[in-house]
Amino acid sequence: MKVNILTLFPDAYVPMGESIMGRAQKKEIASVNVVNIRSYAEDPHFADDIVYGGGAGMVMKVEPIMAALKANGWQKGAKVIVTTPAGRPFHQREAERLTGEEELFIIAGHYEGIDQRVVDLTGAEEFSIGDYVLTGGELPSMVITDSVVRLLDGVLGDSASLEQESFNEGLLEYPQYTRPRVFEGEAVPDVLFCGNHKVIEAWRREQSLRRTSLNRPDLLKKVPLSDEERQLYAEERAAAVERVDVYIALVHYPVLDPKGNVIATSVTNLDIHDIARLSRTYNVKGYYIVQPGEEQKELTKQLLNYWTSGHGSKINPDRREALSLVSVVDTLDDVVSRIEEIQGEAPLKVATTAKIRRDIVSYEELKEIMIRENHSCLLVFGTGYGLTDELMEEMNYVLKPIVGRGDYNHLSVRSAVSIILDRLLGE
Ligand code: ADE
Repeated sequence: MKVNILTLFPDAYVPMGESIMGRAQKKEIASVNVVNIRSYAEDPHFADDIVYGGGAGMVMKVEPIMAALKANGWQKGAKVIVTTPAGRPFHQREAERLTGEEELFIIAGHYEGIDQRVVDLTGAEEFSIGDYVLTGGELPSMVITDSVVRLLDGVLGDSASLEQESFNEGLLEYPQYTRPRVFEGEAVPDVLFCGNHKVIEAWRREQSLRRTSLNRPDLLKKVPLSDEERQLYAEERAAAVERVDVYIALVHYPVLDPKGNVIATSVTNLDIHDIARLSRTYNVKGYYIVQPGEEQKELTKQLLNYWTSGHGSKINPDRREALSLVSVVDTLDDVVSRIEEIQGEAPLKVATTAKIRRDIVSYEELKEIMIRENHSCLLVFGTGYGLTDELMEEMNYVLKPIVGRGDYNHLSVRSAVSIILDRLLGE
């Protein structure tokens, strides 16, 4: 296979001569031809130009790119790829498909991209290598070349390593170990020394499933699993969510009134009791009432004392257990400091809102984040007409609003807490 890479920065391609890519070229299985687009521009300083219609940045010009393609043997019908963050995601299956081509022309986009007519004239496929923006297409063009060339016959010494690697069968690869058997107290799993190939295979399959369920649950949806494997996957995820310590804050100040003014609301007995009992039921580690008003604080503390150490604690120990989770603090920052002391790190701050906002996460997304980051999580609820914009800005994530069956949207905060806790932590 011949891979022609058209670029404004040919010096960036040093890694193409190394390791497996270097070997593929030495063995003449693949050759890489790095073409400097500037050499085909009338003036090498003008391979790019202003954006028609206005806008920041520069666009790579059509003439030098088409001239570079033609001078390097491109003819209509030959496969052209353009790297751009606006392209389709580049996946393993694309790499596999491209191994069927004898020659590739990859255009490394730069600046604001390339003139669209290059794509239209050549029928190029536009690929993105991930949801992030790099400074240019040099790395993406190397990534694409590497992922294709290594699949060509004879490039990798051991074809078994191709058969078993990540993404085969749609699962991520199991963990690998080599000598020494023990390092800094960490031992290689015993099962790998049992000598029974079948047992080792079964262990590896289980490890692949675990890893995929934690790191890429999206992949699992596409893989046929046995009932036993589905069960294992569900248990793994439930256990991972359970490992995350969750806290609740109920904010009485600063919150909004219906007109958008910043106000303080009063503590209510119902919210104290119901959210405390919810917290205990769903294993929430602490429930903080954010209330700086002195009289309100005193009232709340008196009520809590009655149930946690006074007469109430003797007549109803279940209530004592729930209300022992409750503390009253002045500010949300105080809540975060208290959690930091307990957990040794600040929690992820997650708010909920009745308003539709753009940057919201779904319950499933938040679960993924909790599993992935394995980080304690503070769910922040506002009383009144919700948290102020300033508090919202401080949040790491905002959860999707709860939507009922009509446009009436006035749930009590304790109802919202129940629904959200069940969606996140319920069975
Ligand atoms: N150019 C800049 N960022 C890119 C990306 N993520 N994928 C492909 N080309 C790019």
